[in-house]
This record gives sequence, structure tokens and C-alpha cells, in this order.
Amino acid sequence: MDGEKNVRYLEKALSGVPEDFSGKLLEVPVGTGVLTMPVYRDLPDADITCLDYSEDMMRKAKERAGRMGIRNVSFLQGDVGALPFADESFDVVLSLNGFHAFPDKEAAYQETWRVLKKGGTFCGCFYIRGQCARTDWIIRNMYQKLGYFTPPYETAGSLKKRLGELYAEAEVTAVEGIGCFRCRKAG
Ligand SMILES: C[S@@+](CC[C@H](N)C(=O)[O-])C[C@H]1O[C@@H](n2cnc3c(N)ncnc32)[C@H](O)[C@@H]1O
Repeated sequence: MDGEKNVRYLEKALSGVPEDFSGKLLEVPVGTGVLTMPVYRDLPDADITCLDYSEDMMRKAKERAGRMGIRNVSFLQGDVGALPFADESFDVVLSLNGFHAFPDKEAAYQETWRVLKKGGTFCGCFYIRGQCARTDWIIRNMYQKLGYFTPPYETAGSLKKRLGELYAEAEVTAVEGIGCFRCRKAG
């Protein structure tokens, strides 16, 4: 994917996070934080929680946050399929490049919905199949074998349907093989 498309998919995926956001945000999975710490640096009044299964990835995210002087982000090791938060805890749940990797996708959809407040926003992006034959081939024959991706994968249509059933509003935009979404929970 070229630079322009990278910018476009990230802009879409992050479009559910207001520029002056000051509420509670959960990011899962944060990975190394390479995509989001630059965003959080500009949200000093937000209360941000980042979760990932891998302690190793999160250590890198924590170090990155430290280097950037970010103070309002807490980090927690955990499983997206069993989130350690009460129902309706967050105003925004953000998930970048995670659902194609999560082993139990049904639990991940349920849990991200459960911890979101009524009227809150679920947004992000992940790989969807059927948009780019070359990407599909690489994922099936390389990344899946390495364990970075776990089927089954959504298509643009199946993702729109699934999110439309869970949320009051759901917008899905495909940027090559990446499905970007922004949803609002009824309430
Ligand atoms: C491709 S990385 C994406 C990280 C980051 N959001 C980004 O876009 O750079 C996928 C991440 O999902 C995490 N992950 C996989 N299964 C998980 C689970 N069940 N619960 C939480 N995180 C998980 C991995 O540890 C990894 O950091």
C-alpha cells in the first residue's frame, strides 16, 4: 500500500476519535503504539487505557509513551475476548489492525460492544478479504502460516452486516484490503 493510502486508511480508522477528545478511550490491541501514541500526545485531557495480550509489544508502547512525555495513558495486559472492565465503561473503543489476528472474533466483537457506553463510538480498521487478490494471497500463504493472521476473515459486506446488527449506526469503508469502520452504540 502506498503512502497516500496509508494516510487515508488511518484517517478513516481514527475518524471516531474527536480532535479535542476528553473522555474515556480504550485501545485494543495497542501493539507497540506506533500508530496511536502520536495521536494521544495531542489529547492531554483524555483518559486512555491501552490493552494488548503481548507484554512484549506493550513494553515497547510504554517506552514510546515515556519518550513522548505522555502521562494520561495506562497499559494493561489482557485478552480482548475477556476484557477486565465493567459494562459501559468507555466513550470510545478503538481497534487498529486487531480483529484479523484475534483468535476468538465473536468474543472480541461482544466484549468491545459490552464495555462501550450507550451512544459511544467503536472505530478502527483491520484486514478484510476480497478487495485485493495480491494481499489475500500474501496473507493466506505467508502471514497466516506465521500466525500473525487468524481466519475466518470478514469481507466488506460481512463486516457491514455484522456491525449493522450490533450498532445503531455503522459505516464501513474499504481502503484496498483494509476495512475501516466507525459505529455508534444505541442509547
Ligand atoms: C498487528 S498487531 C496491531 C497492533 C497495533 N494496533 C498497530 O496497528 O500497530 C496485532 C496485535 O494484536 C495483539 N493480540 C492478538 N490477540 C490478542 C488478544 N486475544 N487480546 C489482545 N490482544 C491481542 C497482538 O499481541 C498484537 O500486538
